[in-house]
Amino acid sequence: AEKKPLPVVIWLHGHECTGCDESFIRSGAPLASDLVLTNIALEYDHLLSAGSGEPFEHHLEETVKKYWGQYILAVEGAVSTTDNGTFCMSGGKPFVETLQRVAKGAAAIIAYGTCATDGGIQGAKPNPTGSAGIKHYTGTKPIINVPGCPPIPEVMTGVVMHVALFGKIPPLDSEGRPKQFYGNRIHDTCYRRPFFDAGMFADSYDDEGAKKGWCLYKLGCRGPETYNSCGNLRWYQGMSYPIQSGAACIGCSNAHFWDEGPMFARL
Ligand code: SF4
Ligand code: SF4
Ligand code: F3S
Repeated sequence: AEKKPLPVVIWLHGHECTGCDESFIRSGAPLASDLVLTNIALEYDHLLSAGSGEPFEHHLEETVKKYWGQYILAVEGAVSTTDNGTFCMSGGKPFVETLQRVAKGAAAIIAYGTCATDGGIQGAKPNPTGSAGIKHYTGTKPIINVPGCPPIPEVMTGVVMHVALFGKIPPLDSEGRPKQFYGNRIHDTCYRRPFFDAGMFADSYDDEGAKKGWCLYKLGCRGPETYNSCGNLRWYQGMSYPIQSGAACIGCSNAHFWDEGPMFARL
């Protein structure tokens, strides 16, 4: 019998740090290598593809043409628009142009990371490059927002796997985030929550309360306003997450978290 062709994925990189791709390849379930080698056809990705240079750019154009209307477009990074987008060039073209062109032929779009969903660090004040989330440049195409700086590896693989296997977009919340992964606040699943409820707070990172693992709210923890799976899935295949490692959540999956004083204590 003829083998069913694998769902094609084109992964574009805009104004970003490649941290999202780095996170993606650390997924344990599914293993990123299994996903990339057996479940999807990842045709273009700056970090993971073997190709480079003009043949690589040519391959992007060929893939877009051949699978027009069918491919899944994954995007990592913000869109830079100042001076016609020339702050973020790739393959000799402003990223914003490539994004708009490739988005037109996509069946679905995944915005990976807070850069792609809301501009990320590039969009922080005074935002000299005019960076913003991709949703303003992708027209009416369905878009799945997967914020986080970066998002959790298993969330990244889980989302693209869902779209590739079921050919459908997972159930989303009002901000376009998959409900399965963004349905709880960090605060709802935090193991330090009993200390919050009992009013036991660390006042500095080196006091007795911090040593005893009390709640980090007064140190600026954004867990109460941040939706993500860090408390239940954890990072590095379930090992830990910022709060477990002793740091307050900086709300990395919230839009504009750089400008909203994530590092300021609530003393
Ligand atoms: Fe890097 Fe964070 Fe942007 Fe991902 S969201 S590309 S980790 S700065
Ligand atoms: Fe909530 Fe943060 Fe305290 Fe955890 S450490 S209970 S997320 S305020
Ligand atoms: Fe980000 Fe907070 Fe999780 S900083 S990694 S959302 S605990």
